[in-house]
Amino acid sequence: VGYAGTADGADAVDVILDGLSRLEYRGYDSAGLAVPTPSMRIHKAEGELSALEDAVPRADLEGTVTGIGHTRWSTHGPPSDVNAHPHSDEGNRVAVVHNGIIENYQQLRDDLVDAGVTFRSETDTEVVPHLIGRALDRGAEPEEAFRLAIDQLEGSYAIAAVFDGSETVYAARQDSPLVVGLGETGTFLASDVPAFVEHTDRVQYVEDGDFVRLTADGAVITDAAGRPVDRATETVAWDPEDAEKSGYDHFMLKEINEQPTALRQCLRGRIDELDGTIDLDDIADLDHDGPIQFVACGTSYHAALFGAERLRTAGVQAHAYLASEYASERVPVDEGTLVVGVTQSGETADTLRALREAARAGATTLAVTNTVASSAARECDHALYIRAGPEIGVAATKTFASQQLALALLAFALSDGPTREELEALRDIPGQVQTILDTTDARAVAEAYADADAYFFIGRGYHYPVALEGALKMKEITYRHAEGFAAGELKHGPLALVTQNTPVFAIVTGNGETARKTIGNVKEVEARDAPIVAITDGESDVTRYADHVLEIPAVGDLGGSVLANVQLQLVAYWVANLLGRSIDKPRNLAKSVTVE
Ligand code: G6P
Repeated sequence: VGYAGTADGADAVDVILDGLSRLEYRGYDSAGLAVPTPSMRIHKAEGELSALEDAVPRADLEGTVTGIGHTRWSTHGPPSDVNAHPHSDEGNRVAVVHNGIIENYQQLRDDLVDAGVTFRSETDTEVVPHLIGRALDRGAEPEEAFRLAIDQLEGSYAIAAVFDGSETVYAARQDSPLVVGLGETGTFLASDVPAFVEHTDRVQYVEDGDFVRLTADGAVITDAAGRPVDRATETVAWDPEDAEKSGYDHFMLKEINEQPTALRQCLRGRIDELDGTIDLDDIADLDHDGPIQFVACGTSYHAALFGAERLRTAGVQAHAYLASEYASERVPVDEGTLVVGVTQSGETADTLRALREAARAGATTLAVTNTVASSAARECDHALYIRAGPEIGVAATKTFASQQLALALLAFALSDGPTREELEALRDIPGQVQTILDTTDARAVAEAYADADAYFFIGRGYHYPVALEGALKMKEITYRHAEGFAAGELKHGPLALVTQNTPVFAIVTGNGETARKTIGNVKEVEARDAPIVAITDGESDVTRYADHVLEIPAVGDLGGSVLANVQLQLVAYWVANLLGRSIDKPRNLAKSVTVE
């Protein structure tokens, strides 16, 4: 959040703290603010926003009209006072807040340390104020220093900076949201509209490559060369509550739609285009060539099944276990085993328990999680972050897609690297998810089958975990009976359940043996008059047997299962919507289950 106001506007501290609280739904682990006039003051605190509110000496800051603030969701360095934003240069001449990931921060940090700079935090962000500070040392004016620093960054960012004694806020954007609010008594800046929608509904969306100069009179937006660019002023008709969902009716739908961004963030800096390799910084010191076991629960277990399958395809011995069954199954585990806990929250008791048992047996442990410094991340020998961003809806959506992608990267990193084709397929997935979101017929399918008796999902290979996940999503948010089956198992029992009123969702990609076998199972269902919904890339003739088709781009089985799942998320969402369910908070369920 940033603010540049006038004396008859609101106090900067109030605007910033209110704004941050409006962004509370994004989740955070620490927060901070900087007020630069009459001289720079920076306050930060680990924990909930109330900790920052307690730490800010309001009396000292009364009447100030400029500031920036931030709530942090860690990507580098655990939550702590010192890792909280704003970060500053050594002389506290500039304070900076940042969302995103600076990919070349290690190089920049090494160069700055060589030049004699002392770092205080473990964040990627702290390179920015030091780069600005170096430019100031060389005599640059604030705006020039800010531009020079931004020019050196690679990665994603929404950055705001304030300078000691100045009432101007500077900002820049690349691949991370940033929006300006134009008010009567001041100008606002935030990563999301709800932060300031109570002050103004007139907004300008900042675009990639834009620089912003924010003063009480308004915002000047320029390109990298400093030429003014024209960004339309729009009026947003949101009340603060709706705004948190960016205009979507539910967090779940918002999060389904955030998947292209989440997946890009997951891939960022992890594919080396030049030599065609996977480069996972987080686990650079993990060197393993023995058997691999996955432990996980719920949706994360489905992602684990998918990851294990990818590893086996590459000839690695790998298996996914339900974390709650890991102990009773007496799974053989020793020093030569890598045990991977897949858990978006990093706090699931069943998963933590299994990881601890594995560690006791001498195994190397790895957490694949969305939550930096979660219990799983702290307790495991290694942690790989899926970088999906905070997820509010209880039903996991974007975290599952990001787990799939992160586990595919992990599998490549722990076996033979990807082929050129596989690499390109991975890179294309975020854009293809967007295509599905733009063109999907999921709502029509949901309308056709909202009154069904039950919903069945079938798939083979990579699509089997997605069949399970499609059914789990449907159960969780519609409260209807839904089951996922390995396509070949249908005839061994479940076929008895199939009727005219039980649609069967079949995931079929390509036209190889796996596809042909699944199509055989589809015919068995068709012969029993059950409606068929094919989720397919159109490479085979499965559409001949289908009552409805949900199309996905043709990218092979691995990527196809990520894409097919998006269609199934949307079908579940729309059925639940038609039934009027409590979609973001389904009955009896919790986002993170910390009991066994
Ligand atoms: C809970 C949630 C599920 C989730 C599971 C595992 O049961 O309701 O949506 O898949 O926990 O959560 P984790 O945080 O370990 O991925």
